[in-house]
Amino acid sequence: MFLSVTAVLMLFSCAHGENPAIQVILTNKGLQYGKHAGTDWIQKMLEHVTLPDISGKVNVGFWCSIHYTLTNTSIEKCDLPEPSADFYPDATGLKTSMSGLSVALSGQWMTHFGIIHDKGSFDMAILGVDVTSVVELGKDADGHLSVSSANCVAQVGDVDVRFHGGASWIFKRFVKHFKKRISKEIENRICPNVEELIASVEYHLQAMNVSFEVDPAMAMNLSLSTSPTIDVSSLNLGLKGEFFSEKTRADPPFEAQPFTMPEQQAFMLSVGLSEFTLNSASYVYYSYGVFQRFIDDSMIPPGFPLHLNTSLMGPYVPQLPKMFPGLLMDLHVYARDTPMFSFQPGAVKLGIQGAVKAFAIQPNGTQTPLFQLNITDALENIARKVVEMGLEILNKRLGRGLVLPRLKRAQLVNSVLKVQEGFIALFSDADVFLTDRGFNQQN
Ligand SMILES: *[C@@H]1O[C@H](CO)[C@@H](O)[C@H](O)[C@H]1NC(C)=O
Ligand SMILES: *[C@@H]1O[C@H](CO)[C@@H](O)[C@H](O)[C@H]1NC(C)=O
Ligand SMILES: *[C@@H]1O[C@H](CO)[C@@H](O)[C@H](O)[C@H]1NC(C)=O
Ligand SMILES: *[C@@H]1O[C@H](CO)[C@@H](O)[C@H](O)[C@H]1NC(C)=O
Ligand SMILES: *[C@@H]1O[C@H](CO)[C@@H](O)[C@H](O)[C@H]1NC(C)=O
Ligand SMILES: *[C@@H]1O[C@H](CO)[C@@H](O)[C@H](O)[C@H]1NC(C)=O
Repeated sequence: MFLSVTAVLMLFSCAHGENPAIQVILTNKGLQYGKHAGTDWIQKMLEHVTLPDISGKVNVGFWCSIHYTLTNTSIEKCDLPEPSADFYPDATGLKTSMSGLSVALSGQWMTHFGIIHDKGSFDMAILGVDVTSVVELGKDADGHLSVSSANCVAQVGDVDVRFHGGASWIFKRFVKHFKKRISKEIENRICPNVEELIASVEYHLQAMNVSFEVDPAMAMNLSLSTSPTIDVSSLNLGLKGEFFSEKTRADPPFEAQPFTMPEQQAFMLSVGLSEFTLNSASYVYYSYGVFQRFIDDSMIPPGFPLHLNTSLMGPYVPQLPKMFPGLLMDLHVYARDTPMFSFQPGAVKLGIQGAVKAFAIQPNGTQTPLFQLNITDALENIARKVVEMGLEILNKRLGRGLVLPRLKRAQLVNSVLKVQEGFIALFSDADVFLTDRGFNQQN
């Protein structure tokens, strides 16, 4: 009983999940590029790493042990082999493996054996380090992308230590013990460090805004609508992709339709933008009254044959000159409903339902409504012009708004834009510039 109820609830919640209006697909080419950029970045970062102290004791027989501390350890040289990175559907995540990492370290050693204290320097080579990490991707309740460590395995092949200075010759015969200890010590520290790094990425993901302001009147909601999906060749993120008014926060009276992005492994990433996204912006501007204009006679050039004067309207509306002779008129041209874009292969179409209201201006300033026309052929051009003016504003704002803050570190190259049935597909490669502060930098 419980199981069947759960099953029904799950079906219900699936059926009512909202369709993402924006889909972002990372292909294997993109993953490999990202991995390469990341490896270079890590290699640079490692030059500045100071390693934590290692201390312990070595049994030298007769129930005696020497306490040692390795301190001020820094990386002299690091040979970072290119790791492998793969999509890992089993964990809805990514699997990264590195094998054969070697690091040369140097630092100071200190020992005490009873009351005898001694110190000197050491060189150490850590050889054949293998690390495999599986990161799971998900979506949290607020629609953030989330990452967590699903698995981590580390193995150190060999450690070579040389002690210099002090009475270091005494320890020569215990080097074998040091090696084993240090090797285990390092091995035990790799995965907690990897997990800490993943936790720090997670922390930054949680701190990121999933909606951002486009202009003072409008914001874009980019929260994840669905959990990330992963197959062997790509990662797909479905984003809400809705513009909304920050004042009303109302959803538009239409919904995003599902669409399927074609696979394009030749590009690093693909972004699909459904017509819903553009129409949600159109809806916000429509509700703010952007798609309307008031036209009065002063806007018509003096030499123009027709003027907004009731006495001159006889040929079109015979009653007008009789009922309201010699009065100036105002026209109110507006969209009767949200102008809706529709994407068709190779074309973007715009559907407008326009209307015109005419007013006579009485000598005392009162506007008397004259008639209302749903847009007919003759007035359609005026209405289109007006809506186009509105769209220009919209485009300018969208143009400004869509420069995402995160894109300051990346640049799209080799982009191809295609209009498909119901969505626009952008296929692109990217250049990413990772600074030495990497993702810790906020802007
Ligand atoms: C730490 O090591 C550097 C060289 O790697 C050396 O210049 C510095 O004096 C050392 N610091 C201490 C406290 O031993
Ligand atoms: C996130 O959004 C809030 C509210 O809109 C804003 O105050 C904050 O500065 C934003 N944070 C970032 C990192 O953009
Ligand atoms: C964004 O959309 C999600 C899902 O519909 C919703 O839960 C969230 O409140 C929205 N965020 C904002 C800032 O409107
Ligand atoms: C409207 O046109 C008539 C006829 O040309 C003219 O007599 C009248 O002054 C005009 N009204 C205004 C307010 O310009
Ligand atoms: C202005 O004039 C019109 C027509 O003469 C009249 O119907 C209306 O009541 C007047 N309005 C005011 C505020 O005087
Ligand atoms: C304009 O269209 C609307 C909606 O279709 C209708 O309610 C209205 O009567 C029409 N007006 C005219 C003047 O045809």
